[in-house]
Amino acid sequence: MQRQPYVKRRRSRLSYQLAYALRHPGKVWPHLRRMSRDARLRLTTADHVSYYREVMRADIADLSADAAIGSHGRESWLRIGKMQFDYLRAHGLTPRDRVLDIGCGNLRLGWRLIEYLEPGHYYGVDISPEILLAAADTVARRGLQSRLPHLTVVDDLTFAFLPDEHFTVIHAHSVFSHSPIEVIDECLRHVGRILHPDGFFDFTFDRTEKAEHHVLREDFYYRTETLVNLAERYGLTARFMDDWERTRHKQSKLRVTR
Ligand SMILES: C[S@@+](CC[C@H](N)C(=O)[O-])C[C@H]1O[C@@H](n2cnc3c(N)ncnc32)[C@H](O)[C@@H]1O
Repeated sequence: MQRQPYVKRRRSRLSYQLAYALRHPGKVWPHLRRMSRDARLRLTTADHVSYYREVMRADIADLSADAAIGSHGRESWLRIGKMQFDYLRAHGLTPRDRVLDIGCGNLRLGWRLIEYLEPGHYYGVDISPEILLAAADTVARRGLQSRLPHLTVVDDLTFAFLPDEHFTVIHAHSVFSHSPIEVIDECLRHVGRILHPDGFFDFTFDRTEKAEHHVLREDFYYRTETLVNLAERYGLTARFMDDWERTRHKQSKLRVTR
């Protein structure tokens, strides 16, 4: 597979950034804060998972768990979670499905799945211990203890502790948009083992039609064909979900099957 290099593009040019700052003055200070954190974390963390775990730790401490997963306000947290849930329901989700929610965050989608699925059928994994504490809090506040959700902190996406062909639905919303290609590669290399033969793995990604790039190691932009080809390398088929585009969410969605 030909891999596109991450190239510096318009966004990283000083002239572009100055013009952008003039148009969006409210975004300048948060961006400077992220730049200085990036400089520190580049020196103090060994790999991307440790880097992003620190990003989550800082955002939860400085802002809130909702903000750390990208929801500025409860209304948006509820709306984006419902959008994900309604989409899965429209695609045939039933209470008997066994769902793995990769990068489950503080259960923006997860609480709806926990409520809907048979007890014990929801598994959430995340790299951030702090966001999983917030997830446990969501379970408690919504009174979902008897639905027996599984919440596990992970260091990688090899799924070594999970059984073969167990999950009928695997889901990763807004996770690969924060992941370098090695993390996505690792996930696609291993996900086929735990995916039920008739199941599917849906993930969103920040799509670009131009050169692939990242911003401060926090936001990654990929071409669709890069991810489709990567899935193919591991014997999986990835399909672009046109109907997801109608939700007008800023990320696109691919569905992977065996
Ligand atoms: C933008 S939030 C989305 C949370 C959730 N999927 C949702 O839509 O509400 C991204 C989440 O993915 C987690 N994450 C990032 N990289 C990960 C990785 N390589 N493996 C597992 N979780 C990851 C973050 O800690 C964070 O909780």
